Amino acid sequence: MKVLITGATGLIGSEIVKQCHKKNIDVNYLTTSKDKIENKDNFKGFYWNPSQSKIDVNCLKNVDVIIHLVGASISKRWTKEHKQAIINSRLETTALLHETLKNNHNTITQIISASAIGYYPDSLTKYYTEDEKEVSNSFLGKVVQEWEQVVDSFKTLNIIVSKVRIGVVLSNKGGAFPELAKPIKYGVGAAMGTGKQWMSWIHLHDLAGIFLYVLENELEGVYNGVAPNPVTNKMLTKAIAKKMKMPLFLPNIPKFVMKIILGEMHIILFESQRVSSKKIEKFNYKFEYFNLDSALNDLV
Ligand SMILES: NC(=O)c1ccc[n+]([C@@H]2O[C@H](COP(=O)([O-])OP(=O)(O)OC[C@H]3O[C@@H](n4cnc5c(N)ncnc54)[C@H](OP(=O)(O)O)[C@@H]3O)[C@@H](O)[C@H]2O)c1
Repeated sequence: MKVLITGATGLIGSEIVKQCHKKNIDVNYLTTSKDKIENKDNFKGFYWNPSQSKIDVNCLKNVDVIIHLVGASISKRWTKEHKQAIINSRLETTALLHETLKNNHNTITQIISASAIGYYPDSLTKYYTEDEKEVSNSFLGKVVQEWEQVVDSFKTLNIIVSKVRIGVVLSNKGGAFPELAKPIKYGVGAAMGTGKQWMSWIHLHDLAGIFLYVLENELEGVYNGVAPNPVTNKMLTKAIAKKMKMPLFLPNIPKFVMKIILGEMHIILFESQRVSSKKIEKFNYKFEYFNLDSALNDLV
């Protein structure tokens, strides 16, 4: 089996590559940086420049499944330009892949795309399943909705379309966790706002595991990429501090302060999405990190 991964050089992509290799799945990958290209038997890089519609079509050779992860980071200040990059990097790349498959012979049977739980509206009380019809009207909600719609266009090519709505990924290699842990480590940690907002976390190992599970079982449709036990911001902050044996004495940080510091992107810290993992569990995916405590034991 061979997969083509976009975003293979990122946090989630690197873990998926590792797990593919453990299962003897060969990986081709598309990268926008020529200096990230490697050429090994089971790991071959190909250059693309999506904004100029450039793609090396050799990347498709003998590939069965596409895992589509690319996207400009949402953890960088949301200037007008960067917001456009967040949108373009997802929509243009998906459209370019679609065009490339339409116009070139290929053996692709499935595309598994990243999506995000930012799809779901901010709520302290709802428990979101993949069937939720209401979409968040925030910037991220709109981006994710459009991204998922473009990914659905692969159905017209008779390809199985699968989407993983990713939660807050916990890893000590990058993403949210080092940022959450840093102030706590220096004794200045505090919860955000009321601290009641839900954070539907997932350990990086399980997230990559879900991508591989969806691939190996040809699962179609949307799957939430979150662990079975979401926690609130306050619970998460307290749990990290306890695991690090650090005190938490500062009052919660008010929303307006973070808005001044981070601008519009402060909503990442304050939006609440309590998201269910039941669907993937019903398909018999077994989580390695079921509770926050076990995930933190691994990370701290
Ligand atoms: N990490 C999380 O907590 C989280 C949560 C929800 C959703 N997600 C989604 O999951 C996907 C992967 O996340 P990640 O954390 O692994 O991201 P990441 O570490 O930032 O990696 C993303 C990869 O995308 C490529 N890329 C970045 N900007 C690009 C651009 N403007 N145009 C084309 N390619 C670009 C880069 O690959 P090259 O340099 O090789 O081209 C990069 O390695 C993203 O779409 C993200 O939105 C992540």
